[in-house]
Amino acid sequence: MKRKNILVTGGAGFIGSNFVRMVLDERDDINVVNLDALTYAGNLANLEGYVDSPRHEFVHGDINDAELIDSIIGNNNVDAVVNFAAESHVDRSIEGPRVFYETNVMGTLNLLERVRSSDGDVRFLQVSTDEVYGSLDDGGLFTETTTIKPNSPYSASKAAADHLVHSFRHTFGMDCVMTRCSNNYGPLQFPEKMVPLCINNIKNGKNIPLYGDGLQVRDWLYVHDHCAAILRVLESEPTGEVYNIGGCDEKTNLELVKTILRLLDADESLITFVKDRPGHDRRYAIDSSKLMNELGWAPTVDFETGMRKTIQWYEENQQWLDAVASGDYLSYYERMYDA
Ligand code: NAD
Ligand code: DAU
Repeated sequence: MKRKNILVTGGAGFIGSNFVRMVLDERDDINVVNLDALTYAGNLANLEGYVDSPRHEFVHGDINDAELIDSIIGNNNVDAVVNFAAESHVDRSIEGPRVFYETNVMGTLNLLERVRSSDGDVRFLQVSTDEVYGSLDDGGLFTETTTIKPNSPYSASKAAADHLVHSFRHTFGMDCVMTRCSNNYGPLQFPEKMVPLCINNIKNGKNIPLYGDGLQVRDWLYVHDHCAAILRVLESEPTGEVYNIGGCDEKTNLELVKTILRLLDADESLITFVKDRPGHDRRYAIDSSKLMNELGWAPTVDFETGMRKTIQWYEENQQWLDAVASGDYLSYYERMYDA
């Protein structure tokens, strides 16, 4: 059987490291070169036990480095690039948008150019987000044909990257596919994001900052289901396709927080309503029927089960939390507005 060689970017972050682990655990026909700049959000602790796998090579570097990408693609006979690397936190993009443009737009452009100029027949998979569609203020679901209408500097940078990927497919005939997923949760998520922030704050007896009225809606998906969907799209036949990925688990932020409080047997008085995120999108909801019908994917972990597994993982991995952030870590919001 021919081994496939894939370049994963951002594979020391939350979803990328879960993806690398899944591939190394489940697929002995795939070799991974993992390129990551190890920003505040990336950490080799996310790959503990996997870094030295004979099918894994870690490269510390930037997706904007053209020479480095050329040498990785050339030296490893890369068959596909899976681009997770990004600045991913909406709050940070409000405070400082520039790095989001540099990584999410210019970095993606650099990867596309390097793949285009390589000799091989390389597939490019862009890991995108449902946030590119904007906000569903009046019902309905995002489909793959919903108009792109991003609202935050983060989602605008991801949308710009999506347009670039489409343009390289359309203009140069490159083999590009794209996924747009809803909110992920699960092991190894940096504690500035809502779910690990709640778990961590509850464990430390701290308040949970809920933005605005807490009635914004997100569609939650367990990270392993997202990774399984990406693997399916990576290996799918048609090129040029876009696939939405969602959990069919819509929850208001208030419902989300109350579930975590209940599972941790903690008091709802920890909920503190704080000033809203500027430009906060009201609702995201995904129609994943294209992915389900065409590629046979379906989520396997429901919200309550996934949340129990996630809480248990954080309870058992305090050492990991200490490695990526200090145990009583201050969230971005607290540092900027609350401290
Ligand atoms: P993350 O912030 O946890 O990880 C991002 C990784 O990219 C980090 O390891 C970081 O070091 C690396 N990185 C950043 N800049 C880089 C650069 N210039 N060169 C190389 N590496 C760089 O993000 P995540 O939550 O794992 O998200 C991964 C991807 O999935 C992103 O593209 C994001 O837009 C997308 N996505 C995330 C979610 C979610 O709920 N978290 C949902 C849908 C899509
Ligand atoms: O929808 C997919 C997106 O989900 C990804 O593209 C992003 O990379 C990822 O960060 C996530 O974006 P969100 O902004 O939805 O995630 P976050 O965890 O920051 O917030 C989830 C919701 O909770 C959101 O409505 C804002 C709210 N929130 C968040 C924080 C950190 C709070 O009310 N209080 C908080 O302290």
